[in-house]
Amino acid sequence: MHLTRADFPDGFLFGVATSAYQIEGHGFGGAGPTHWDTWAATPGNTANAENGAVACDHYHRLDEDLDLIRDLGADVYRFSTSWARVLPEGRGAVNPAGLDFYDRLVDGCLARGIKPLLTLYHWELPAALSDLGGWSNADIPHWFADYARVVMDRIGDRVWSTATINELWCVSWNGHFLGRHAPGMRDIRATARAMHHVLKAHGCAVQALRAEGIGNLGAVTNLDWVMTADDSAEARAAAERYEAIFNHWFLGAMFKARYPALVLEGLEPHLPDGWQDDMALIAAPVDWLGINYYTRKLMASDPGPWPAYRDVAGPLETTSMGWEVYPDGLYEILKWVAETHTGDLPLHITENGMSGPDKVDQPDTARIAYLESHLTACRRAIADGVPLKGYYAWSLMDNYEWARGYEKRFGLVHVDFESLARTPKASYQALASWWRQKV
Ligand code: FCB
Repeated sequence: MHLTRADFPDGFLFGVATSAYQIEGHGFGGAGPTHWDTWAATPGNTANAENGAVACDHYHRLDEDLDLIRDLGADVYRFSTSWARVLPEGRGAVNPAGLDFYDRLVDGCLARGIKPLLTLYHWELPAALSDLGGWSNADIPHWFADYARVVMDRIGDRVWSTATINELWCVSWNGHFLGRHAPGMRDIRATARAMHHVLKAHGCAVQALRAEGIGNLGAVTNLDWVMTADDSAEARAAAERYEAIFNHWFLGAMFKARYPALVLEGLEPHLPDGWQDDMALIAAPVDWLGINYYTRKLMASDPGPWPAYRDVAGPLETTSMGWEVYPDGLYEILKWVAETHTGDLPLHITENGMSGPDKVDQPDTARIAYLESHLTACRRAIADGVPLKGYYAWSLMDNYEWARGYEKRFGLVHVDFESLARTPKASYQALASWWRQKV
């Protein structure tokens, strides 16, 4: 890799990201069941009906994994706490072993000179809350704020920074409209409510944590760079609808206190009464925005009901997820977000990376090229004045890739899911060779 720390501004942060359910092993330590456990237990929902019960067994291998992060030369470790590990029923009784685990995790980071960057929700909703309607229940913003307070009362004095919810689009649209993630619904009314409540939950948590004096709070969105599959006016309109749902809904709410008309066209009849009154809370100021970027989308129109679009496979090289490799999209997204929504607010790339058909004894050269091209896109954006402050690769190690199970490998470290042995890949060595040189 032809990059060095000197290619980035002083103080630019490099790191890696993971999430609780994808690595910890949810079957241990008194964690309560989640909607991912029940969804995976239903035939056909996840590859080979795989779930996160064991995952990478990170729960028992915490020190070994934190050593890998330190030896990589990472400045930041982005991890998440599991709601159901902390509060097995989602509310009420705390699982002390759960909080102890996160306490050890945070102290383990600090002892190794790593900044702990917490995400409070990365998708595993306690099943007891799912029973009550989960993200479509109007009370969930308050349940989430209460959970946030419980976590932060224990580790908030030591985490470097905290994000509320990972990828609000995935939580709401993917889980309730497309049915590709738990809870696997395909219902526009549940979708509309989840799209609003997930934002309100973000706002309620920010408000609750600010009241406790906690700073450095952020939000994490996944953003696609959207293009049209052809030059027709229909494709342009379809791309605008997709962009409105995927990008504008969440950014518009958080940074402009409004929802885009193109989405209200479809969702307004199903939104909860009085939703307008929540917009100021949703737009409570944050200290930074995290962007997860993987690919671009090519959109065409579709004859079906609203939103009447479909994505089309593009001609570029793809990863094993089938996602096109398009680093220019990262540059474009960064410029667009800063120009249209966030201005001088610090931005962080909270996830970026690729899955490949990795073998433990073969160098993952495609990943090295992917990371280098996307880090180069970050440099271009910084040179153009975008206030990008950090880049966190997805992911530290191969893990449970949700509905795609264990076959999709995103790690810088290979995990043998039989023995659970960790083996750093060539991409890990490539990053370590310059991340370790602290300037
Ligand atoms: C993101 C998720 C992360 C992982 C990557 C590949 O959408 O936040 O957990 O699944 O995609």
